[in-house]
Amino acid sequence: MWALGIEGTAHTCGVGIVDETCRVLANVYDMIKPEKGGIHPREAANHHAEVVVPLIRKAADVAGIELSDIDLVAFSQGPGLGPCLRTVATAARALALSLDVPILGVNHCVAHLEIGRGITAAKDPVLLYVSGGNTQVIAFARGRYRVFGETLDIGVGNLLDKFARECGLPFPGGPILEKLAQDGTALVPLPYRVKGMDVAFSGLLTAALALRKQGASIEDLAFSMQEIAFAMLTEVTERAMAHLDNEEVLLGGGVARNRRLQAMIARMASDRGARMFVPPGDLCIDNGAMIAWTGLLMHRSGIRMGIDQTAVDQRFRTDQVAVSWR
Ligand code: ATP
Ligand code: FE2
Repeated sequence: MWALGIEGTAHTCGVGIVDETCRVLANVYDMIKPEKGGIHPREAANHHAEVVVPLIRKAADVAGIELSDIDLVAFSQGPGLGPCLRTVATAARALALSLDVPILGVNHCVAHLEIGRGITAAKDPVLLYVSGGNTQVIAFARGRYRVFGETLDIGVGNLLDKFARECGLPFPGGPILEKLAQDGTALVPLPYRVKGMDVAFSGLLTAALALRKQGASIEDLAFSMQEIAFAMLTEVTERAMAHLDNEEVLLGGGVARNRRLQAMIARMASDRGARMFVPPGDLCIDNGAMIAWTGLLMHRSGIRMGIDQTAVDQRFRTDQVAVSWR
């Protein structure tokens, strides 16, 4: 069975094709890079509308199959930016109808977790899902993926991107700050905000920007932001693992590519006799393969959707999904 997945919740439009063993046959994407400022939902949607059909063709070429060989079309149903979600949902409906195959809408956050389980040896991990828009600690309990902790304001990627943008650096800022951080020499004090299982980053952003205006070096600030923000994430992830008595931690989302975050989580995991799993970078960021794979799992467990059930949901919560495939 071959499933094609279309991702388009935010800045990235991606198309992936996977088989029933989670072999990734194709995983192609195109990301809108605003010249300055943040992402405008309408502009991102227009970008997706332009690239989605070429990406579908490219994915089939890379996989070396005909589109008519596809057995299932899956798409990111939410959460995300309304215009972007509607654009890829429309593309998915048109493709499924023209191929006369089933269509399934997939929860984007669940997909980050499932691709990690599919591609690594993790079986029942605590997922630290860290991207631009999302920061959540998720684990499976009583039939659902439950959010054990999350950001109370902005996502950790957003923190890094916004800081970088204010400093005149291009989007995405996270990878640039990671490089700059390597030349940081001083840990400048920044607010550490953990509230129970939740984290908050906007105070850290404000403080870092204020220090920048006062002349603190961007390298020191990049270093310190990473140390403080990632320590917060490590603390709540460890607490979730301790409460759940879980010995696996899986990273997902674009920020999971950060080596310093990986090192901090790996250290925490080894200190408690647990294991860390990190999918390859192209499967950490928003991608079509994770949507295809989750759609395939859903389909295999008997889930079906009529076209009338494929409306997008900008606020689609992780724990709204009844996980019938586990
Ligand atoms: P979502 O829709 O799930 O919120 P997203 O649209 O932010 O996701 P992703 O591709 O998962 O998309 O993540 C992008 C984020 O990852 C950006 O904020 C980017 O700065 C950050 N990022 C990517 N690489 C790194 C890195 N090496 N270090 C830190 N942050 C990174
Ligand atoms: Fe994502």
